[in-house]
Amino acid sequence: MTHISDERIPNNVDLGGDKRLQRALEGWQPHFLDWWRQMGPDGFQADDVYLRTAVSVEPGGWAHFDHVKMPDYRWGIFLEPKEEGRLLHFGDVIGQPVWDEVPGELRNMLRRLIVTQGDTEPASVEQQRLLGHTAPSMYDLRNLFQVNVEEGRHLWAMVYLLQRYFGRDGREEAEELLKRRSGDADRPRILGAFNEPTTHWLSFYMFTMFTDRDGKYQLSALAESGFDPLARTCRFMLTEEAHHMFVGETGVGRIVERTCELMKQDSNEDARAGGGIDLATIQKYINLWYSVSLDLFGGEISSNAADAFAAGVKGRYKEATRYQDHTGLGQTRPIEEVRDGRVVAADVPLRNAMNEILRDDYVEDCQRGVDRWNKAIRESGVDFQLVLPSRRFHRAIGAFAGVATDPSGRLVGPDEASRRMAEWLPSAADEAYLKSLMHPVHAPGKIAAWIAPPRRGINGQAFEFEYVRRPS
Ligand SMILES: [Fe+2]
Ligand SMILES: [Fe+2]
Repeated sequence: MTHISDERIPNNVDLGGDKRLQRALEGWQPHFLDWWRQMGPDGFQADDVYLRTAVSVEPGGWAHFDHVKMPDYRWGIFLEPKEEGRLLHFGDVIGQPVWDEVPGELRNMLRRLIVTQGDTEPASVEQQRLLGHTAPSMYDLRNLFQVNVEEGRHLWAMVYLLQRYFGRDGREEAEELLKRRSGDADRPRILGAFNEPTTHWLSFYMFTMFTDRDGKYQLSALAESGFDPLARTCRFMLTEEAHHMFVGETGVGRIVERTCELMKQDSNEDARAGGGIDLATIQKYINLWYSVSLDLFGGEISSNAADAFAAGVKGRYKEATRYQDHTGLGQTRPIEEVRDGRVVAADVPLRNAMNEILRDDYVEDCQRGVDRWNKAIRESGVDFQLVLPSRRFHRAIGAFAGVATDPSGRLVGPDEASRRMAEWLPSAADEAYLKSLMHPVHAPGKIAAWIAPPRRGINGQAFEFEYVRRPS
């Protein structure tokens, strides 16, 4: 039986044994709650939501399910248990003991990585704060809030590291994390995708499919880190992240399923005629969210990434188990760029290509999800394939930033690009159409016309379960 601790801040880091840190975090807590009330899910703070709460890191026993009001959610600090004798296993520092404190020369690098990761967590909550008003079902409403509270917990995870290991700078950064605002002209969030508006549920599922998946790869790379508390924090966050990507992949999958059903019912195979979302529109939102998420990995050639790898701070995906050589020396990787109006590939030292290598794994993972959607389309008898666009398409970061290509990656002139943009990316008309479909369906067991119900509910409950109880 799982049990939520009655400490003010549930944790497995012996917070009670470090009074100074405890006081600092208890000082930050009301600021976090103010931020949550202001920027968290709008209009649902008094509802009882069937949420899982992290209560420990023991396998199988960490998640506790119950109806809670979101502001009463027990945001806690949980690190995977320390593995005694763990050694640095990549870069220039292989074989040395991992660090339990921040090495002075790595302080800036680590702080930047933690702040950047930390900034994405509240940003996504802000992006999604109005979506509850148009949820297609009570089940989806609950999943949205689950993702939101867990992003809040991820913020706690990063703030713990900042406050515990970075002294006064860390405390200042922790406050700043509550002051930036997604999409704000003066104080935007740090990364581009986290300033994109998420104005309807198709974008929400695309976000959790593609943008949360970037999170999986960043956290996985940091889970290899020689800064042991960071590695242990990230490993536990990954267990929560898996649910976010499940929400995204199955969300899009359920739209695809419903779309195919509606196509079959219409003599012109027009899903919009039945109040659904046509596959061409779904493709455009894939093009958008996938490309902005690719940018999150950074430039293809990066000396920061090389430094972080050399220092043992940020590894490759599954560095410990997937690679023979962990130095990254004496090897190269071809990287594309545009020269004289043509795409050429040049070999780059492997360490400088670490962002691209992490992106490779991400791309493969995304492709697996798209394959599953296509399988459902095929099985329904509809002749259509969703595709991931080329990684050259619609990029704002790296070698293809500002280079006009079509979704297949073919270079195009500015005329063609502007003429065909509405074929490739969501147009104002697509946005308006999607918003016209977004009406709340908040009764248990009911669902909007543009999406299929899930195969099963949450934690063994039925789809008809009352996942969210409105205040009486
Ligand atoms: Fe997160
Ligand atoms: Fe997430």
